Amino acid sequence: MDSMRIKGGKPLTGKIHISGAKNAALPLMAASLLTDGGLTLSNVPHLADIATMANLLGQHGVSLGLNGDHKNNGHTGRVMELKAEKITSITAPYELVRKMRASIVVLGPLLARCGEAKVSLPGGCAIGTRPVDLHIKALEQLGAEVVLENGYIHARAPKGLKGTQIVFPMVTVTGTENIMMAAALAKGETTIVNAAREPEVVDLANCLVAMGAEIEGIGSDKLRITGKDKLHAAHHDVIPDRIETGTFAMAAAITNGDMELIGGKLAHLNSVARILAEAGVSMEETPQGLRVRRANGLHGVDVMTEPYPGFPTDLQAQMMALMCVAQGASMITETIFENRFMHVPELRRMGANITVHNASAMIRGVPQLTGAPVMATDLRASVSLALAGLAAQGETILNRIYHLDRGYERLEEKLAACGADIERVREAA
Ligand code: EPZ
Repeated sequence: MDSMRIKGGKPLTGKIHISGAKNAALPLMAASLLTDGGLTLSNVPHLADIATMANLLGQHGVSLGLNGDHKNNGHTGRVMELKAEKITSITAPYELVRKMRASIVVLGPLLARCGEAKVSLPGGCAIGTRPVDLHIKALEQLGAEVVLENGYIHARAPKGLKGTQIVFPMVTVTGTENIMMAAALAKGETTIVNAAREPEVVDLANCLVAMGAEIEGIGSDKLRITGKDKLHAAHHDVIPDRIETGTFAMAAAITNGDMELIGGKLAHLNSVARILAEAGVSMEETPQGLRVRRANGLHGVDVMTEPYPGFPTDLQAQMMALMCVAQGASMITETIFENRFMHVPELRRMGANITVHNASAMIRGVPQLTGAPVMATDLRASVSLALAGLAAQGETILNRIYHLDRGYERLEEKLAACGADIERVREAA
């Protein structure tokens, strides 16, 4: 398994191009199942998870073409042509779904298009049990018969789906995405109450509208979808990745650098910008994106993760790394997932002073972290260890970086171009 070697202490300066958003691209790719007309996506990031979704869609019968880097309003991103002329299999197999839980977003479109879907239960992951009960309940309310057998969700709607009111008891991002896509081809009107408002959900809704869907309330927590008989071809540009943007903003802050994040959108990160400003880090808009640097020192602040527009759980680990070297104390509370502090023991190995009580971590800033061999456990925990390594004195070896490759495109290249002393160490074949 590859690892990453980082020699810390170098302030990051220069420009980084933000890639297309992983968590937008994945449901957008699944939306191609809803029509035989084809879907063209531009600014698609080059990530392991994208390849996994491409494999999954391929075995459903989606033909998929990728052409190289495509200059698209200032940043490069691949153009992906997807066409589901005919669905040849309604099964999403365990061996693919277990590699990426986001595969669950093929459930709604397959059911809506074919009247049947057999999707492996995704199972849990490092950060939590990740149930999909809310997806299943909502599909049953749309008229599907759902049976859980041999580890699979077997959903059938031979007479098609019928619009209704769905009230989610808690905000679920992929749950909202699955139901929105299913409702787009249901008979009649579906209202989703307590819908997720993440920019990635908005991006999917905008793409569905471009494909001929009728959706009102986009960006709000109440969506109204009027089902159509068919959707048609469309071209859609994937939004920039706000989690990658936030990650690099914290890389600039933790190294006391000065970076411009090309393509980054402040509008998608208002809660993060507010918290970072409180901590002494400025994020200002530039014609090409965002400029990030420390304004006056780095101070401990309290953070609670929440559904959008609150502080994103996907930036919690990175914020914790930053707070490890702030002056004063910081309390970070994780309210979305039950086990998202796997980075804590690894940060402690680097000299961080962190105490965990249930869902809250108290971080007392230390003057300096020290490099150490550390273990990545999940996508965002691994990048938080990379950030700590960038600031630490000495060398950090980050192991199991396949986690990183799932969600960050060419991370070491982007950071090295801004002055980081970082290299990928390929495991001997
Ligand atoms: C999406 O996961 C993201 N993944 C996650 O990003 C992100 O952390 C999460 O939303 C929260 O923002 C993608 O978009 C592909 P949820 P998702 O359903 O949809 C509970 C990353 O690092 N829940 O919004 O799976 C669930 O257990 C990944 O890029 C149920 O109880 O998250 C959690 O506590 C990690 N039953 C909460 O809701 C359900 O049926 C929010 O989960 C569904 C969810």
